[in-house]
Amino acid sequence: MTRKSLSLAAVAALSATLFLTSCGGAEEKTTDTVKEAVTEVKTEVKTEVTTDFSKGKLVYEKNCQVCHQADGKGLASTFPPLAGSDFLSNKEVMVNAIHKGLSGEITVNGVKYNTPMAALPGITDEETADVINYVYNTWGNAVGSITVDEVKAIKAKK
Ligand code: HEC
Repeated sequence: MTRKSLSLAAVAALSATLFLTSCGGAEEKTTDTVKEAVTEVKTEVKTEVTTDFSKGKLVYEKNCQVCHQADGKGLASTFPPLAGSDFLSNKEVMVNAIHKGLSGEITVNGVKYNTPMAALPGITDEETADVINYVYNTWGNAVGSITVDEVKAIKAKK
């Protein structure tokens, strides 16, 4: 958060510089500098989004951990694992499991489970994206990432 605000301040400062120097004939060079800075800022923000899972961890601890456990390994034959699960890459399944629940027999890593998971309607779209990104990138998982817009689009489907 702080880094993002700092970066935005940097862009504002550079825009101001551009404005002030634009009458002095140094436009071209300044424009390049601003473009470089903006590219840098974009890279920085992107890195931040994909490496900070602390918000998702909190959502997980509050809403998922009781069944799927802190180590993501699940519990006995009732709660399937999220750590190393071959079930995660389908984003629609992830979002729907959280917002609509999941029931019927499923096979995770070759093991069959058949206990309904109730929907968790109190979780916001932001929290949904955060918790999925946490699950996608924790316990050795490297599944990828999901945006809030993707969550919204999946929820709007049905
Ligand atoms: C009350 C217990 C409970 C809670 C809380 C819960 N789940 Fe589940 N979850 C289950 C059960 C049981 C299944 C298996 C459903 C079936 O057999 O069809 C499951 C299945 C899943 C699956 C698909 C199978 C797998 O292991 O990959 C995902 C993904 C999942 N849960 C994610 C979550 C996330 C994320 C949260 C928190 C936002 C959460 N669950 C909260 C009980 C729970």
